[in-house]
Amino acid sequence: MAFEIKATGRAIPQRRVSNKELAQKIDTSDEWIWSHTGIRARHIASADTAASDLGFEAAWNVLEMAVEQGVCMEKTPEELAHTLDMIVVATTTPDFYGCPSTACLIQNRLHAKNAGAMDVSAACSGFIYGLETAAGILGTGKGRKRCLVIGCEILSRFIDWNDRGTCVLFGDGAGAVLLEKTDATDIRGLLKTILRADGTGSENLIIKKGGSRNAYRAGDVFEFASFIEMNGHAVYNFAVGAVTEIIRDLLKTENISVDELRWIVPHQANARIVQAAAKRLGFPPEKFFLNIEEYANTSSASIPIALDELNRGGYLKKGDMILCVGFGAGLTYGGNLIVW
Ligand code: COA
Repeated sequence: MAFEIKATGRAIPQRRVSNKELAQKIDTSDEWIWSHTGIRARHIASADTAASDLGFEAAWNVLEMAVEQGVCMEKTPEELAHTLDMIVVATTTPDFYGCPSTACLIQNRLHAKNAGAMDVSAACSGFIYGLETAAGILGTGKGRKRCLVIGCEILSRFIDWNDRGTCVLFGDGAGAVLLEKTDATDIRGLLKTILRADGTGSENLIIKKGGSRNAYRAGDVFEFASFIEMNGHAVYNFAVGAVTEIIRDLLKTENISVDELRWIVPHQANARIVQAAAKRLGFPPEKFFLNIEEYANTSSASIPIALDELNRGGYLKKGDMILCVGFGAGLTYGGNLIVW
């Protein structure tokens, strides 16, 4: 039995906001953002778009690819949607807090009437957690075969656009994959996952308003909407350590050398985090796939967007081994080792 990624997709909002455009509104510069983060632009969703809209678009993109490439018997995305057993959505910016889940909203729009649907809350590590959750659900259910795993975010709506320390870092987007349980007996698909957390750092990356700890109450007047608060230095240090630890541990437990990896696909939060981890590990920086320049940090969407770019760009072939590594609020971190 194997859990294979059969198709990928993504949804990127059209509106591209460059560093230069941001610098016209707040006290920052293209030079500062680029040199401190590796970001040149981010894409921002229109006011009437929610996370499920981008998630649905990415999911549809996946189903179209699966049909076009003939990786399934079904002839249309609609038919394929009917065969889905589960939809797992990783998001930090759900359409609604609490309920309903964003996964249910996407399930409805896909008419995936045979699928269960649930959200995973692990912030920027959400896709890493989601993929393992999906494999677990497929693995324990006898009749279950197919699961969509989606990361979708509208971070632009939870940012204080006057805080130059955070607003330059984030963007909107969605990515998705079709995970299928197959009879393959060779080494293929999701080989190994590590999931870790360090709740002692929960205050270092946090949206304080709106939950049961700090609920909105009748009569409250807010000067600002809920937004992400971050201790940049603490998160940076945690992230470099997390990326290093996960890569080292995954390779060690599976007895794999870095040369056997085609790509390391890190969460795209800051190119400097990735460069620092590469240096600590003594790995060539070219092993790490980076597209942060164009999208900034799209949280749970960043890894599946990167996978889709690699896949559609022809940079992945069957049998390639890749290592995805994520980290984020919680604090959470983890990695998936995958044979394509
Ligand atoms: N434009 C211009 N100047 C800025 C700026 C911006 N967008 N943001 C901060 N600065 C200024 C600061 O005010 C400070 O000025 P000062 O020295 O006059 O006080 C100076 O730049 C240095 O700030 P500092 O916070 O020390 O910068 P840094 O090199 O640590 O980089 C981050 C800041 C946020 C880029 C970095 O800490 C980081 O990437 N942290 C991790 C964030 C992250 O990845 N979060 C998501 C995880 S999923």
